[in-house]
Amino acid sequence: MSAKNTNNSYGWVAKTFHWGIFMIIIGQFWLGGNFKEEQFEGMGLNKVHFLVGITILFLMLVRLAWRAKNPVPEMPEGTGKLQALGAHGLHILFYILLIALPVAGITANNAADEGTVELAKTMHGIFAKSTLAAVLIHIIMAMYHNFVKKDNVLKRMLPW
Ligand code: HEM
Ligand code: HEM
Repeated sequence: MSAKNTNNSYGWVAKTFHWGIFMIIIGQFWLGGNFKEEQFEGMGLNKVHFLVGITILFLMLVRLAWRAKNPVPEMPEGTGKLQALGAHGLHILFYILLIALPVAGITANNAADEGTVELAKTMHGIFAKSTLAAVLIHIIMAMYHNFVKKDNVLKRMLPW
């Protein structure tokens, strides 16, 4: 498998970014939802959440740079204009959300005045929920391609 994407498949670098960041994000959602819970207090999970969040931000920026240097695999033949726009739009939205989410977290953690902290926390929560919603749509579309359309869209992102 080549490192770079081709016109009809993702290369191993894009796949490693995709599935690696996917696993880190699962852990990060667990941390975000739990570091303030009584039974986990004092364990420093908030610090782990901050460090993992900053790591995700860094990885997304490197991933975006790599994407800019690679062809984006083409949509299967017969894909409508609107569907292609929707698919690319959702992918771009992931990049925006996964950069905005940690930036809001960093702001919530470091802003000097209470008003900014509260706003950043609210935005952080909204971005987190939006990411979950986008992932849900994304997974449904991946299943639709694989089991209904039976095209190569899921297969070309699988690690094997
Ligand atoms: C992609 C990265 C991140 C994800 C997916 C994520 C996810 C979450 C989730 C699901 C929550 C709980 C929802 C809520 O309380 O509203 C949360 C809370 C929080 N996160 Fe993150 N987070 C990320 C990055 C960061 C970073 C980088 C920081 C700080 C440096 C941070 C700071 C916080 C804080 C302070 C809270 C508590 C908010 C509150 O008290 O309302 N997060 N995060
Ligand atoms: C946190 C969860 C996830 C995020 C943030 C995410 C994000 C992304 C992004 C940004 C792309 C575009 C890659 C690029 O062109 O640079 C992508 C592609 C893709 N993802 Fe995900 N993904 C997630 C979970 C999943 C899951 C669970 C599946 C499968 C069940 C999946 C299947 C795919 C497929 C098949 C593609 C390629 C689509 C195409 O070729 O047009 N993703 N994903």
